[in-house]
This record gives sequence, structure tokens and C-alpha cells, in this order.
Amino acid sequence: MQANSPLRWGVSDILVGRIRMCLLMPDHETYPPYPDSRTCHVGTYRRVLPVSVERMYENALDWEHLPHVHAASFKAIERIDAGSWGWRAETTSARGDRSIIELRLDRACRRWITRTLKGANAGSEIWTHAFPIEARRVDIVVDFFVPGVAESARKKVGEAFAALYQSLYDEDVAMMTERQRRLDARIESHAEQERIALGSRADLALPMQIEFAGRPFVVAEIEGALYAYSAWCPHQMGPLYAAIPEGRLVTCPWHGYQFNVADGSCVSGQSCQLPAPPDVVQDSAGQVFVDFSSR
Ligand code: FES
Repeated sequence: MQANSPLRWGVSDILVGRIRMCLLMPDHETYPPYPDSRTCHVGTYRRVLPVSVERMYENALDWEHLPHVHAASFKAIERIDAGSWGWRAETTSARGDRSIIELRLDRACRRWITRTLKGANAGSEIWTHAFPIEARRVDIVVDFFVPGVAESARKKVGEAFAALYQSLYDEDVAMMTERQRRLDARIESHAEQERIALGSRADLALPMQIEFAGRPFVVAEIEGALYAYSAWCPHQMGPLYAAIPEGRLVTCPWHGYQFNVADGSCVSGQSCQLPAPPDVVQDSAGQVFVDFSSR
């Protein structure tokens, strides 16, 4: 992907850019505005996603999920700076390459620009534009700009970027649609009872999920004791039910926050915690109940 000579814009680049500007992005500038930019356009990835633009912005700003949801591409990430403007972080790829990456969100133009500032592919820019089609349907156009790619190699490099983005978005769509489902379900229904009978302990197939006031909980046997804890992570409603407890600790698969199910505390250092856990009680006849009265 790296080449020796700096690349200059060709006539075809300009024509493709003009056509794209007319057909796809009539309101927005297509090419990097940075005056010293030496990048060239190597390809475009386009896809309609079943999510809202807000979910897309949230996903773009969410630097923490990269090594968890995209573990095949990222091994680690360390934040340098982050805010509503975007983020800058040092990433380690699955192959061990380190880079400094910056993402800047431009809501006014419904786009975000990801630049590699240092490391492998330094100087490359990825411009993503989001065009809402319906409330929860968005057309995304991702343009890849890479410095110093010979004209003969651009198609291949562009196809490699498109294939990467195909798999990254497959993973992101699963996360975004799951989160949207949970946000929709958050309209709390009223609890009609404070105690849920689960049946005889001998017959319980644990772990199991139960629902209380519209919220799902996991009931699990951990180190010989029964616990109930939220099936959704308090951070961004990630699938805690999918995490296999290690002792009393569960680790959310979306961003790696870790919680103690006994008291709900977050032991990985972030400022959030599980909702107060209900009691799981067993009567003298061996019947198990989840008791929410103390919550
Ligand atoms: S949703 Fe972010 S750590 Fe669980």
C-alpha cells in the first residue's frame, strides 16, 4: 500500500470526483481539504444500513469497541483524546502494527473523516458520508484515500479497503441494531409482581434469562451461589448475557467493561455500575425465587 513516489491528481480522479459530487454528494465536498494532502482516491464502498444516522454517529465516536467488536482487525486501542468532536487514539492491529488514528465527526455535513496520522498507512484518509433514507435506514458512502499508490495498483488497494469495510460494517450493524432494539424496549412496563418463581432448583437449567419490568436479567450459579444480574450492560446496553462469568466477574463483549455481579460494581475502572441486583432466594422446599422487593 505504500509507494515510493508522491501521487498527483490525474484527470480521471477529478472526473470521478465531479461525477460523485453530482450524483452522490451534491452538498458536500468530496476530497480532502487539507492543502498539503498527497492522497489519491483508491476506491469507494457503499451500503444501505438498517440503522439511524444517530446510531451511526454513536458508532463512529465509539473508539472503545474496536478491539472487542472488531477483534479480527484490532488488538488494542489507547485513547489520546476524545470528545463530541471525535477521537484520537493509538491502535494496535491484529498483526501488531501500531498507528495513531484520528476520527473527526462533522455532523453538519453528515460525515466523519478518519485519518491515519502515524504508523502503517500514515497519511491515508477515509471519508464516510451518511445519507438518511428513512428514520432507520441510511446510505453510507465510504471513500478511501491513500498516499503514493501507483495508478495500476489503486483498484486492488481500493478493493482491499472495501472488503475490510464490508466485514467491519457487518460487525457494527449487529451491534447497532441490537442496541436500537434495547433502546426501544427501554420503555419500562410496570412490574405487577415483586417476586418471580423459577421452580425447583434441581430442575433449573442455569444460566437462564428472566424478565422484570421489561428488563432482562441473567440468573446464574456462580461458585455455588445463585445470582441475578442485568442481562444488559449499563454502558451502552451491550449483551452481558453473552459473557461467561469468571468467578463473580462478567466482561461485556462490546467494550470490555467488567462487573462484579454480587454488588454490581464496575471493576475495570469506568464510572458506571450494574443496576442493584435482585435477591435470589431458595425456600425450604427447594423452590427458587428472584425477589425484586429490595430494589
Ligand atoms: S456496552 Fe460498552 S462495555 Fe458494555
